[in-house]
Amino acid sequence: MSGHATPIPMTSYPSGPLKGVAAVPGDKSISHRALILGALAVGRTEITGLLEGQDVLDTAKAMAAFGAEVTKRVDGAWQVHGVGVGGFQEPDDVIDCGNAGTGVRLIMGAMATSPISATFTGDASLRSRPMRRITDPLALFGARCHGRSGGRLPLTIIGTDRPVPVRYTSPVPSAQVKSAVLFAGLNAPGETVLIEAEATRDHTERMLRGFGGEISSEKTAEGHVIVLRGQPELKPQSITVPRDPSSAAFPVAAALIVEGSNVLVPNIGLNPTRAGLFTTLVEMGADLTFENRREEGGEPVADLRARFSPDLKGVEVPPERAASMIDEYPILSVVAACATGKTTMLGVKELRVKESDRIDAMATGLRASGVKVDTDQDTMTVHGMGAGGVPGGATCQTHLDHRIAMSFLCLGMATKKPVSIEDGAPVATSFPIFEALMTRLGATITRNNSKG
Ligand code: S3P
Repeated sequence: MSGHATPIPMTSYPSGPLKGVAAVPGDKSISHRALILGALAVGRTEITGLLEGQDVLDTAKAMAAFGAEVTKRVDGAWQVHGVGVGGFQEPDDVIDCGNAGTGVRLIMGAMATSPISATFTGDASLRSRPMRRITDPLALFGARCHGRSGGRLPLTIIGTDRPVPVRYTSPVPSAQVKSAVLFAGLNAPGETVLIEAEATRDHTERMLRGFGGEISSEKTAEGHVIVLRGQPELKPQSITVPRDPSSAAFPVAAALIVEGSNVLVPNIGLNPTRAGLFTTLVEMGADLTFENRREEGGEPVADLRARFSPDLKGVEVPPERAASMIDEYPILSVVAACATGKTTMLGVKELRVKESDRIDAMATGLRASGVKVDTDQDTMTVHGMGAGGVPGGATCQTHLDHRIAMSFLCLGMATKKPVSIEDGAPVATSFPIFEALMTRLGATITRNNSKG
């Protein structure tokens, strides 16, 4: 879906208490990986709870284009008949990954060490995002990559028929870079080594282990060192995808800032490499309780209850926490606007190369809503106005970015005047049921700026 969907202008109105159960969809990161590793295993992998957002559907389509058989069963589970490591066939058309940075980057890694070529593209947001961070390490394996200026999409990768294993220190804290290197290393002989200074989400390592891959991970003076033995036969798995903590962040945050709210989000993934937002919210004084902690499918999960928290305080979020909450800064900046005092987010320059420049997008919309925000290349500071203190009344640009859209819709539930967005269509990439779910909890969200 590289074309522009028709824009959907939306408005979110100051809301009464949000109450009930928020069953958010499956984890986006885990869903992409389940489809790709399912396609690289020999035989039938079953996936329940797969996120059926557009990003993941585009990855499912891509796996079919590379020769896997991907089907949805009548009971809602997905099946992937994999072709084995090194078994990808050459797609006969361009691979369109829509809005999905994770999809395109992980798939490029997975195909680059096979003797096939593929051309990748995406929507205007994806075509503007940096890809050298992926093509640089893939070239070390022997792949040849030709993109537009700045290494951007559309981009062709000519996979290598003689891959060599690689030892690579990632220059950016990115699970996408790490995963692309590990997926490429699957079809190289010997050991591929990836070193990252800060731990990023580790779903790829956990899932590879589950599929029978030989992979170790160790913290050393050099950083986190991950060692993968190449050319395994991956065994098909039954995967249950936990609910996405990055999607849970929206009803949780909305409950904290809307008076009288009490919302339960069952069964959310609480992998420590993803849980930085919840640590930060607790530091701010949020009323959060984690119930029924357990492990499912190699991932820690719990039921999370969030209650209105009138006395939230601003905090300083340290740079070393950034990787574990990288997708949650937009919604954190909304909570920060409703807290007392200032919240400073340090070491967040990666936000500038997400689906949009998220520092600019949030700062602009918050300022238009009456909130003071300071930014520099790597920092954002939000000057909180206290519970119920944010004026609102703005129309915010979402720049093809689902998380910017959902963040401003949550803001509008707690401001004095409604908040509008010029386009809510991108929400479908990761959280297609957002509007229905939030409405069921008690929010008022309308389309085309017309109430009712
Ligand atoms: C993701 C990694 C993060 C995150 C993205 C999902 C993943 O990106 O922002 O939404 O599934 O690996 P980076 O690896 O670029 O930080």
